[in-house]
Amino acid sequence: IKRTAISAESSAQQNKSKDLRAVLQSYSKSDRTKDFLRDALLNNDFMKNLETDQIMSIVDCMYPLEHKVGSLIIKEGDVGNLLYIMEEGTVEVRKLSKVLTTMGPGRVFGELAILYNCTRTASIKALSNCKLWAINRQTFQAIMMKAGMQKQAEHLELMKKCILRKLIKSFEKLREDILSKIADTLDEVSYADGEYIVRQGARGDTFYIVSKGRAQITEAKSKWDAPIYIRHLGRGESFGEPALQSEETRPFNVIADDPNGVTCLVLDRQSYREMIANELSRLKREESFKYPRRNIDDERDLKNLRL
Ligand code: CMP
Repeated sequence: IKRTAISAESSAQQNKSKDLRAVLQSYSKSDRTKDFLRDALLNNDFMKNLETDQIMSIVDCMYPLEHKVGSLIIKEGDVGNLLYIMEEGTVEVRKLSKVLTTMGPGRVFGELAILYNCTRTASIKALSNCKLWAINRQTFQAIMMKAGMQKQAEHLELMKKCILRKLIKSFEKLREDILSKIADTLDEVSYADGEYIVRQGARGDTFYIVSKGRAQITEAKSKWDAPIYIRHLGRGESFGEPALQSEETRPFNVIADDPNGVTCLVLDRQSYREMIANELSRLKREESFKYPRRNIDDERDLKNLRL
């Protein structure tokens, strides 16, 4: 049953990947155009925080489009379907008939309705013939989803590495689909070089897997002693697992020790408990089946037990 559930899960995953590939049609363009589009996206406040891979996929999938002088490219209040980058020309942005600004080459527009799933917040009219690049909502969302799936797969792989190395005992008996859910829930948190990830003696309810960089463990023998170096932790190593079971007083310090900073995948106790609640009762049922609880209700049972 377990194997069937896993293969059903992974074939659903494969279908999703196939669907995504079908939507992600790329359009050839020169390196100069690619650089121009990438820079435009990185200069836009709402797009600049996307991952490099996502930016490059958006650039790949953008296609050329032209609008004649005077045409209304975007109408305020409409449902938006395209995000644009201006290559040549000038447009005017109006809101409630009031001109807000004009925009020229290198500017991104129409991103708000796509990113926030809202209607168009302003109207945009061509003040000259415009050469534009565009990407549609469906493709944009597929790029975001693909990045999410890749992240989840990477998180799952790291988790499995930790399990194989016997670093996370409490995950060893969990089913593949639960592990996938956990991988999806892990938050990526970055720490600057020298920053404390956990502090000895502090209470904690979070578990960590190092996904990038190196961190060092130090421990003070008592309140009055200076912490001494224990060892380094690298990608695929974890710490803080007891905090998933109950509130942990951290037994040591873990400090980011990498000039490029450290990234950890973080799971808190509450999320962990919610995800494994059903799984725990299943495991308990299995255990009680293997070792049935005894009813000690007569003297003979009691005697056997003593023996
Ligand atoms: P969207 O709401 O999708 O469609 C209209 C676009 O106009 C919007 O995305 C932005 O790209 C752009 N826009 C809205 N308000 C302003 C503004 N105050 N200045 C410049 N551009 C704007």
